[in-house]
Amino acid sequence: MAKLRLLYFLPALFFAVFTGKTTAQIYRPSAQTEERVLKLLDKMTLEEKIGQLTLYTTDWGSTGPTIREGYKNDIRSGACGNLFNSHTVGFVRDLQRIAVEETRLKIPLLFGFDVIHGYKTIFPIPLGEAASWDLEAIEKSARVASTEASAAGLNWTYAPMVDICRDPRWGRVMEGAGEDTYLGCRIAEARTHGIQGKKIGDTDAMLACVKHYAAYGAPTAGRDYNTVDMSERFFREYYLPPYEAAVRAGAATVMTSFNDYDGVPATGNKYLMTDILRKEWGFRGFVVTDYTSINEMVNHGVIANEKEAGELALNAGVDMDMQGAVFQRFLAQSVKEGKVSEIQIDEAVRRVLRLKFDLGLFENPYKFCDEAREKAELLSPAHRAAAREVARKSIVLLKNEKNVLPLKKNAKIALIGPLADNKAELIGNWNGAGNANDCVSVLEGVRAQAQQEVLYDSGCEFFVAKKAGVGPALELAKQADVVVVVVGEQAMMSGEAASRADISLPAVQEELVLELVRTGKPVVVVLMNGRPLAIPKIAENAPAILETWWLGTEAGNAIADVLFGAYNPSGKLPITFPRSAGQVPIFYNEKSTGRPYNPDSKWTSRYIDTPNSPQWPFGFGLSYTTFDIGVPKPDKTTFKKGESLQVTVNVTNTGKADGEEVVQLYVRDLVGSVTRPVKELKAFRKIMLKSGASTTLTFTLTERDLSFFRRDMTFGVEPGEYEIMVGSNSAELKRVKVLMTE
Ligand code: NOJ
Repeated sequence: MAKLRLLYFLPALFFAVFTGKTTAQIYRPSAQTEERVLKLLDKMTLEEKIGQLTLYTTDWGSTGPTIREGYKNDIRSGACGNLFNSHTVGFVRDLQRIAVEETRLKIPLLFGFDVIHGYKTIFPIPLGEAASWDLEAIEKSARVASTEASAAGLNWTYAPMVDICRDPRWGRVMEGAGEDTYLGCRIAEARTHGIQGKKIGDTDAMLACVKHYAAYGAPTAGRDYNTVDMSERFFREYYLPPYEAAVRAGAATVMTSFNDYDGVPATGNKYLMTDILRKEWGFRGFVVTDYTSINEMVNHGVIANEKEAGELALNAGVDMDMQGAVFQRFLAQSVKEGKVSEIQIDEAVRRVLRLKFDLGLFENPYKFCDEAREKAELLSPAHRAAAREVARKSIVLLKNEKNVLPLKKNAKIALIGPLADNKAELIGNWNGAGNANDCVSVLEGVRAQAQQEVLYDSGCEFFVAKKAGVGPALELAKQADVVVVVVGEQAMMSGEAASRADISLPAVQEELVLELVRTGKPVVVVLMNGRPLAIPKIAENAPAILETWWLGTEAGNAIADVLFGAYNPSGKLPITFPRSAGQVPIFYNEKSTGRPYNPDSKWTSRYIDTPNSPQWPFGFGLSYTTFDIGVPKPDKTTFKKGESLQVTVNVTNTGKADGEEVVQLYVRDLVGSVTRPVKELKAFRKIMLKSGASTTLTFTLTERDLSFFRRDMTFGVEPGEYEIMVGSNSAELKRVKVLMTE
């Protein structure tokens, strides 16, 4: 037993020695839990074991193509040990009662739900929150979501979603942290910590489920569920790290993805689930499939029927079947035929039971079912205040010619646009138990802070003109000092199964904005969307633009805070905004190529009809003040392999307002055994500086920060020259060179 235990810890030990970081937070069941699990396992029939590996949605809500009837009977017979899409204390309690009072072994159920950016108090969509570059705020958001959801009967959430995405056509880009691996890893950790709180088993915490493992964010052509194919080097370097970061931050469960990777569907992929996840990283929690993704392996064409798909999945490392009913229908037969062993089933069941014990469900199956707590927590004033705070931090100021913003409170404002007086879209997609009526609309938020009457007209519908046309809106614009026009996507235009080939604004909305600009009045465009939009005409013609994503329950207040300057915007884009969909995939950390871009030379890597540069680069965002970020100063220009490097940089707030800046540090390895990106984010710091104030920041770069997958696929550094770059976004950087010697 002792030997066995040591074996479990070996991968973690390896990581600690290799990286110099600790793995203290990785999920580990206690010896006591282990004993209880084994005792229970001894009493279980094969059918009861398979029941613990089965997860069904209730009819409360559906997040996939089918609802399975009769799930209550399945609970009763022990054939279904876990549920999702069932929440609120009353509903959960009734179902849990069936499990713990009417089944032979009284094993409590897990209750899962997609709590992606809030449960009842809705926070900004994850892509929006990522724009805050504020890890504490992001953790806080997940903490509030977990506190609320766990007060509503839930003990498991399908978050964090950490899929790196460089393709804004993909609708699910809204659920992640954008395009960058470093930022994505830090956010994956913050969200995991927020969801799981101080420890698994606390009444205000849930199990996290990192998803979608793996590389789901790189579907060919940006089309959801499509094939993913990339080199192992590319995969390990850019797509894999955020899953690992979440696992090392303690994420107790992992969800497989729908896509295939290198020809093998993720749900049947032993390399992903066993070799990397369990052996390399030492993951000890359980793996759940995505919705019917075992069954879908038949469509992928790698297996002839569902029974064999179940065998493939279990043998590859899946523990729990979400909604497919494949394990329930076929696994016992597969055991009889020797296609899967009962030992493997036992191992999967142990992984599930450990977490049920750790959650404390055996002591108190109703521990997340306390009506008084549910009433007190949901939409509490403190939670709404936190949502407003995160929401305003997520707003990105993209343009502000002639300082149109902030608005004077006594200005006469014409508030126009189909999203100006809207609540339904503000909670975005994957909005938990959020209720649009609880939202503050932009009109309400602006009216609450403006000192003059606010004129309002929707200007157009989402996709079509109004009967009256834009005339009434233009009339209001003419009467006003300034026009604020709120345009964008409907929430259902992004999220799952919502890829778009055209990522521009609906034409009627673009035309509305341009008509308003033509009035000659100063126009502030407030964008709401779940993905980067390509809006070159608006970018060129509108004097001021705010990217506000979908900000959730407090959207209107947060937007008003920024419009009137009660909050100085500090968000930075976590993803590149292209000029047109034709540039996609577009991302900042590209390679040089043998013919680097030169706008004056035909024979270079470029388009003939558009520049290579994006509309707005990764890391970009303005403020109502200005900052000067100095040249990076390394503590030594030559350093030895293994030594770390300290880089200092002076930052001054050179403008008239107090404000926050995100100081970003990028690195380039100038000559590598394989081609290296022209820049990669390696550190950042978000700081607050009073007008006129200066500070000096110190960044430490370790050997790990400079490591990559070398020609032979070992991970490490290669001595030579590096460029260190510092600035306020990925395109405006000051540089210095340093030399690493052997
Ligand atoms: C399918 C989605 O891909 C996944 O993200 C979600 O957690 C499940 N459905 C459950 O709703």
